[in-house]
Amino acid sequence: MEKVQNIVILTGAGVSAESGIDTFRDGGGLWEQHRVEDVATPEAFARDPDLVLRFYDLRRAAIQTKEPNAAHRALARLDAEWPGELTIVTQNVDDLHERAGAKRLIHMHGEHLNAWCTACDARTSWTGPLFDRPACPACGAGGTLRPDIVWFGEMPYRMDEIYHALNRADLFVSIGTSGAVYPAAGFVREARQSGALTLELNMEPSQGSYWFAEARHGPATRLVPEWVEEVLGG
Ligand code: OAD
Repeated sequence: MEKVQNIVILTGAGVSAESGIDTFRDGGGLWEQHRVEDVATPEAFARDPDLVLRFYDLRRAAIQTKEPNAAHRALARLDAEWPGELTIVTQNVDDLHERAGAKRLIHMHGEHLNAWCTACDARTSWTGPLFDRPACPACGAGGTLRPDIVWFGEMPYRMDEIYHALNRADLFVSIGTSGAVYPAAGFVREARQSGALTLELNMEPSQGSYWFAEARHGPATRLVPEWVEEVLGG
């Protein structure tokens, strides 16, 4: 660890699971309750905007009743105390990392608490529903706001910054993600090519476990604080 300066962390739904937010692919997860093609693609939104807006309105309301857990807090502590470069890339669309205090954070799949205007491109903080088609606060257009969520078939956000960080990383850590969705699932290989150490912290071996030099399995609220203590302790 003494040679490690630049850390990139990728987080997924497993980090927020113990805060009470459903994951996608575990038993009973969101994609067992809903078909991706019905709620999480641009085509679904064009076909049945009411269904899609209701789906995200419910999730937006739900995350506001949840609290960050020990894993979010440990990563925020690492962010505050790590003297080198650090980038936390999250696939999560909840705001629990930032509510725990994380600052060096990239939401590659968007954010529940933003609305995006397809007319003027403005993003506005949004805590209420979108189903009733509120006007865009920036341009005044009606019916043009959509959830600021990256749907299947759309390009994740800030990829240039993410690949830049991965190419400089000495250590890449993947936490609470199944490794089923690209491009995030490919980050471990990108980091390895740059010579980074690689570590997986997940409840069970992910689909990409094979690519990690080390893997630890268990709940994020135990594994992440232990690992952060190790890193900051020297
Ligand atoms: P998944 O639901 O695919 O995977 C969650 C992973 O977390 C699984 O490997 C679980 O074993 C693990 N896990 C569950 N509980 C855990 C716990 N308490 N501690 C540690 N690990 C735990 O979620 P993601 O990998 O985040 O995209 O899914 C990636 C993307 O697919 C999401 O961002 C979303 C989804 O479709 C979009 O909506 C664009």
